[in-house]
Amino acid sequence: MKNFTSVSDVEDLQEIIKKALQIKENPLSETEKGKGKTIGLVFLNSSLRTRLSSQIAAQNLGLNVLTLNAAQEAWNLEFADGAVMNGDTVEHIKDAIEVLNQYCGIIAVRCFAGMKSKEDDINENILSQFEKYAKVPVISLESATRHPLQSLADCITITENWNKEQKPKVVLTWAPHIKPIAQAVGNSFAEWMQQMDVDFVITNPEGYDLDKNFTKDTPVIHDQDEALKDADFVYVKNWSSFDEYAAMPEVKESWMLTNEKLANTNEAKVMHCLPVRRNVELSDEVMDGKNSIIYQQAKNRIFSAQAVFSEILDEITEK
Ligand code: CP
Repeated sequence: MKNFTSVSDVEDLQEIIKKALQIKENPLSETEKGKGKTIGLVFLNSSLRTRLSSQIAAQNLGLNVLTLNAAQEAWNLEFADGAVMNGDTVEHIKDAIEVLNQYCGIIAVRCFAGMKSKEDDINENILSQFEKYAKVPVISLESATRHPLQSLADCITITENWNKEQKPKVVLTWAPHIKPIAQAVGNSFAEWMQQMDVDFVITNPEGYDLDKNFTKDTPVIHDQDEALKDADFVYVKNWSSFDEYAAMPEVKESWMLTNEKLANTNEAKVMHCLPVRRNVELSDEVMDGKNSIIYQQAKNRIFSAQAVFSEILDEITEK
């Protein structure tokens, strides 16, 4: 694996899930693998799970870890090519990346959608600069359109919780929120589910359809109760409108997942990437209920990251 920014970077999804589950059994099986190498974790946005799980994963592999909370701790970055930097920005992103090249054998970056320009976000305005200027492997810690380490953890969690012959029905359901949220988690989950042996359905209100480039042939149902029927896994997530970019069209019906709605499922396991706004996106009763596998999902972020870092280290070592 040369880089890890989407499911396309994974050669064999079932193999990497298997590897992650082996790592979960024995997280310290490769403590020498990263010895003498450094991973830079660069956060342009806030994080709890991604930052800490990546640090644990890197340490389990013996990597040196540099974590930079760039939004708070570094110079104000300029992203525009050819900018005359006589304003608030102090350091150009290409200079920052070139310096990271001097310090790190792997660069991992979190760069959310700006939610102002649809074009900039679709084109991954920031991640693409890391891909262009980095001379070492690049890992996405969530970008404008995708959250691949989360999606791999989601695949691991579904695999752990399914031991029947038939395919599980997996439903990605939109949830309410108080402010516009990017589509990255929903997009990414859709891409990864299309590679899994599952029956996958998306449900969201009218006006909230995700980008067709991600949902492809996945059925999109605008009636949540109909979509939830016989579900084995329900993945709860909010996102803002893609068509009317970053808007929040009014939704009259109640979309928050409750036990009453869950009764319509096949005793579905409930997933959410966290952080969650309790009693807005997801009710306390579901969050704390017996069907929630949300903390297990969060724990699996470690093994998702460790499996990916390990594969990237294979690539570096082979050179
Ligand atoms: N799920 C997730 O990415 O969590 P953080 O934003 O806290 O990293």
